[in-house]
Amino acid sequence: MTLQFSLDTAAPETAETPCIVVGVYENGLLTSAAARVDSATGGAIKRQVESGDINGKAASTTVLFAPEGIKAKRVLVVGLGSQKTFDAARFQKVNLEAARALTRLPIGSAMSFLADVDVPGHDAAWRVRTAALAADHAAYRYTATLKPREKSSQPELGSIAFASAENAPMGIDQAAAIAEGVRFARELANLPPNICNPAYIAEQAVTFAEAHDSVSCTVLDHEEMEKLRFGSLLAVGRGSANKPKLIALQYKGGAADEKPYAFVGKGITFDTGGISLKPGPGMEEMKFDMGGAAGVLGAFVAAVKMGLKLNLVCVVPAVENMPDGDAYRPSDVLTSLSGITIEVLNTDAEGRLILCDALTYTAQTFQPKALIDAATLTGACVIALGKHASGLMSKHDDLAEELLSAGENTLDRAWRLPLWDDYQAQLDSGFADVANIGGKHAGAITAGCFLSRFTEGQRWAHLDIAGTAWDEGRKGLATGRPVPLLAQWLIDRSEK
Ligand code: BES
Ligand code: MN
Ligand code: ZN
Repeated sequence: MTLQFSLDTAAPETAETPCIVVGVYENGLLTSAAARVDSATGGAIKRQVESGDINGKAASTTVLFAPEGIKAKRVLVVGLGSQKTFDAARFQKVNLEAARALTRLPIGSAMSFLADVDVPGHDAAWRVRTAALAADHAAYRYTATLKPREKSSQPELGSIAFASAENAPMGIDQAAAIAEGVRFARELANLPPNICNPAYIAEQAVTFAEAHDSVSCTVLDHEEMEKLRFGSLLAVGRGSANKPKLIALQYKGGAADEKPYAFVGKGITFDTGGISLKPGPGMEEMKFDMGGAAGVLGAFVAAVKMGLKLNLVCVVPAVENMPDGDAYRPSDVLTSLSGITIEVLNTDAEGRLILCDALTYTAQTFQPKALIDAATLTGACVIALGKHASGLMSKHDDLAEELLSAGENTLDRAWRLPLWDDYQAQLDSGFADVANIGGKHAGAITAGCFLSRFTEGQRWAHLDIAGTAWDEGRKGLATGRPVPLLAQWLIDRSEK
């Protein structure tokens, strides 16, 4: 379950809650809520600032228990860093760490005054939404395949009220919808590949459609795709006993005759590399190779929950990439759905091979207003941008700008890489129209160039989320990115 969010107008001294959350800048500068708590308690905060116990360093947290003079049982004091440099990213970070601290306390609810601090360039609705989403991110726990924890008598954080001087219900409503989309994406991506296989993703999509009147879902199985000649997608799936599915969700929130926006998400439920087998260490991370699928499905969920006034389709090619006696091999020549022939030079460059057919299908079937794919496509993108920014590629400057700005707004940031024709020659093949790899240079871009061959005439953009879809490490979880970016992009479209 998502955290419950609400707005509250209670004052920090009189709020009746297990915990209030207030901010303190570096150098002992108190926010107005902290100052009010301080004077009501006869200096409980300033004393700790003077002693050095509270230093205001960004995202540091200190709990005061049962201070006299206020109604709340606890005060969580959160460091905001220097006020001069306080910005949107810091705001998100301090709210995330504040919520982490709250989840460690034996409390079921809290009231935060952190959404009422100034953030240059942002209004109250943005602050409430960003704070709520950060809190939900911190509160998410993966439990699906873990032993149920023994019922403890300690309450768990279930709700947060945000103090806001301005009424900002839009912020709360959007946060609730986007949080649900982010959770949907995280949960799906975190599941192991023996559970989350192509059929499982299809079931989740069908279940969601059945629960929402405005949503319908069609699923093509591999036999139907054979008839339709999905030659590239099906080749990737041939080595696996878990047969491919092509999932298409449709949401009608706009006029019946209005063209939809379209998302396509890479849904490789496990990527062994196939015959071009990946090395063993780290291969387990390739359960997240359906992060693009999870991301576009999550954004779809958010759009439906917000009831956006637009039409949207979400297409997911769901395929497992395995080595097998029947697997496709390097040097195979495939005929894609578009008719373009592809020489396979590496079976580990499989994402583009399922996406090209899914993009062709989406363009032909839905004639979308704009077509955006999200994919954990290349290790090269992680080398280029690290784990902070998704790679954005598009030949359409206006679409690229829209997406960059949605990413900036939600702090789910992307950074643009070029798709100049100069790179296309790296995909030359002596045996087919195009090769599926482009050599060692600019691997993220040549993957984008490959996709560009299948999206001509479309208003198309590609998000490489290989670095951003999950946190590294043995306990690394799916992040739910790029759900916030895509959801914001849709919000911006629906206002037009
Ligand atoms: N799913 C991987 C990309 C990936 C690798 C994402 C590591 C996140 C972390 C993709 O299918 C892949 O294997 N790409 C190859 C392409 C290469 C063979 C041209 C890669 O990046 O090495
Ligand atoms: Mn691969
Ligand atoms: Zn892959």
